[in-house]
Amino acid sequence: MAKQKTIFICQDCGYESPKWMGKCPGCGEWNSLVEEVQQTQNKAGTITFKTAPVHLNEVEVTREERLSTDLKELDRVLGGGMVRGSLVLVGGDPGIGKSTLLLQICENIGRKAKILYASGEESVKQIKIRADRLAITTPNLLLMAETNIDAIVQSINDLKPDVVIVDSIQTVFKPDLTSAPGSVSQVRETTIHLMRLAKESNTAIFIVGHVTKEGTLAGPRVLEHMVDCVLYFEGERHQSYRILRAVKNRFGSTNEIGIFEMRDKGLVEVDNPSLMFLSGRPINVSGSCVVCTLEGTRPVLAEVQALVSPTGFGIPRRMSTGIDYNRISLLMAVLEKKVGLHLQNHDAYINVIGGIRIEEPAADLGVITAIASSFKNFQVSPHTLLIGEVGLTGEVRAVNQVDKRVNEAFKLGFNVCIVPSENAKNLKQEKDLKVIGVKSVSEALEVIARNI
Ligand code: TYD
Ligand code: MG
Repeated sequence: MAKQKTIFICQDCGYESPKWMGKCPGCGEWNSLVEEVQQTQNKAGTITFKTAPVHLNEVEVTREERLSTDLKELDRVLGGGMVRGSLVLVGGDPGIGKSTLLLQICENIGRKAKILYASGEESVKQIKIRADRLAITTPNLLLMAETNIDAIVQSINDLKPDVVIVDSIQTVFKPDLTSAPGSVSQVRETTIHLMRLAKESNTAIFIVGHVTKEGTLAGPRVLEHMVDCVLYFEGERHQSYRILRAVKNRFGSTNEIGIFEMRDKGLVEVDNPSLMFLSGRPINVSGSCVVCTLEGTRPVLAEVQALVSPTGFGIPRRMSTGIDYNRISLLMAVLEKKVGLHLQNHDAYINVIGGIRIEEPAADLGVITAIASSFKNFQVSPHTLLIGEVGLTGEVRAVNQVDKRVNEAFKLGFNVCIVPSENAKNLKQEKDLKVIGVKSVSEALEVIARNI
């Protein structure tokens, strides 16, 4: 096959050049020229189908369009199983467990479908060693150690597998392009190729993408808008929990998360995340509170810890892990102005245990209480859950789906729930669980002082 011609195109103004240049002569932008295959028709980014248009109500969708991975956590994140003909990107830091997860689903999928695993990172022998460790014995799994996209596509066309795993997209290359594997042009061109193939052959394709130092997938986020689903596999490397999060899903909700634990025999699903996040909690100490965050449809209880100590330097340090830094600054300002705690000469460190990230404002009341608890050195009962959004005037505002959160606390043996008074009206009191409605942060702190 004749080598395809490539050109360099400025991503900002569209200037075309046969050679790479640091500065675009068209718009003056630096580093904006990216190599692309010169195509007469079928411009990069568009998928051409050779079929005629059909009526919407003539399109038949059968239940088999979704393939279950038999991992409940993964199926939920995918919106109810893998969709045939979809391209799913699994991103995450190196060594977090992406290859392990994808190899593990092969055992279950292998019972009903044919899988091709193309790896550019490990040899076939190394994959076999890992598969042995994960007890994968399915006869329907085909392995290939290949990085040339044309060879991978050829194998897919010959073998017609139902599921393809490409590990990782940064190692795959298209020989027509002169740039190195992992560069923007290579990653984009190979992904477009796989996307077209997935749609045309109705194959579900998983591609693995490493996150770069800047925290984005494959440099710029070029991949994210091309694929059907983007899943991020996150977690602290030295902790065993792993969270699978959908950031984009054309076939389901992006609110769902899947929680796994990395053990010596691979990833194990975690059915009760709250229990896991609260295990090993220090009892009777200041600066620790339990909050509830809704992860998709599931309420998850998590421990928030705060450490407030006098600052040694002129400017106090504020650090947060698992919660937005700006939110912490806002809550500390509320404590300062509305509750009268003089925090301006104190460092504050906030941490959510277990590597979980809380984005919901419903955790505000718990976070603010943890800070106050550390500062004033009082304890919050380990069986108290705090729910509520905190406003700038120090008021505690209503949050959604309080009943679900309270129920979760009840299931885990909590005996007090401090909730916004607006929500408390609609909650029925349980025998073993006291629900206390509060209107402001000061009132919440008083209630806690009374309950100790
Ligand atoms: P891996 O799937 O290779 O990561 P990625 O593909 O995201 O780069 O995961 C490797 C890590 O997982 C490695 O640190 C070892 C650990 N691990 C286990 O703890 N138990 C296991 O059974 C396996 C296979 C890996
Ligand atoms: Mg890997």
